[in-house]
Amino acid sequence: MKIIHEKSKCIGCGTCAAICPEFFEMDEKDNLAELKNSQIDEDGNEVLETKENKECLKEASEVCPVQIIHIS
Ligand code: F3S
Repeated sequence: MKIIHEKSKCIGCGTCAAICPEFFEMDEKDNLAELKNSQIDEDGNEVLETKENKECLKEASEVCPVQIIHIS
């Protein structure tokens, strides 16, 4: 499972961190979500590959108001 978080478009609503805290936390410095243990790709997005198939990741991608969490 590959997770991409377009942090530059995050509006800091916090839902992802609330429903999927194993993968998302709010960054105290900028109040935006951070994908834990992720790498930054060439587009500046946070990317993480995981073998875990957590239902909350799918939920987070569905409920994010700006639709910037992509799961594949
Ligand atoms: Fe940001 Fe969407 Fe999470 S706006 S805080 S990535 S739910």
